[in-house]
Amino acid sequence: MKLLLNALIFLVVTDSCSAFTSSNKFGITGGISSATELYARKPFISGNWKLNPQTRDEAVALGKEIASTITPDTPDIDIALFVPYVFIESTINAVDGKLMVGAEGVSPEQKGAFTGAVSSSMVKSIGVNWALAGHSERRTLFGESDEFINGQCLKLIDEGMSVMLCIGETLAEYEQDLAGAVCAVQLKKGLAGISKEQMTNVAIAYEPVWAIGTGKVATPEVAQDVHSKCRAIIKDMYDEDVADATRILYGGSVSPESVDELMSQPDIDGALVGGASLDGTKFGRIINYQPV
Ligand code: 13P
Repeated sequence: MKLLLNALIFLVVTDSCSAFTSSNKFGITGGISSATELYARKPFISGNWKLNPQTRDEAVALGKEIASTITPDTPDIDIALFVPYVFIESTINAVDGKLMVGAEGVSPEQKGAFTGAVSSSMVKSIGVNWALAGHSERRTLFGESDEFINGQCLKLIDEGMSVMLCIGETLAEYEQDLAGAVCAVQLKKGLAGISKEQMTNVAIAYEPVWAIGTGKVATPEVAQDVHSKCRAIIKDMYDEDVADATRILYGGSVSPESVDELMSQPDIDGALVGGASLDGTKFGRIINYQPV
């Protein structure tokens, strides 16, 4: 249904879209060759391992288990795991090209006296094309500001890489009906200076803070509502083509039980999964979701 809708949108606006590029399953950008490639936003299921697992052997075993759930029957989607820096190379080897492995963040700085920092060029040099920015845990626990997050986005794009910008409101903000307003601020500040053309290297992850790690997944209706608000904000910042082409993922207690309905919403283009991405069976079911 979503594919059909997007193909129809394409037919209406086809003349104005020739400058766009799309990314394929491995995040490599290329020219557009067909309507479906352009506006059928390719679903994107991703896992964020955070500070897990505890050893390299466990990371390798988990990566292999997850890769084994990807079969010829798996839908044609983008799949990525965002993993701790020290596990990136061994996880890339473990998944054997079946999915992408990304970084959980990078420094906005390129080099120099920044003890403990890791740059975009460093992770790029070991085969990484995607990184997260703006995760609520980084914002709150590590004090990363919108300016810092914007610097990360710009640096990644500068490096020819792609960024998944995470946004989302707290419970108090949600209860005050401020979800749309908070997302607008975080989108506008996070994406400052990113051009319309560069938006092909950006995905958004809407992760309401109250749903992260709490087991309280947003209902498909609530998530859809905020996703459509985010798309409207992107349209306002850029234009309708960019809004239609930008993937907006949902994150926050996504599970095998909730993924099918979430992925059936017209503006939900994927999932960013925390806890369930540490369980090969659960994440495998999420990757192989079945829209209702
Ligand atoms: P959970 O899926 O554990 O709620 O975590 C979501 C998240 O923060 C992904 O980035």
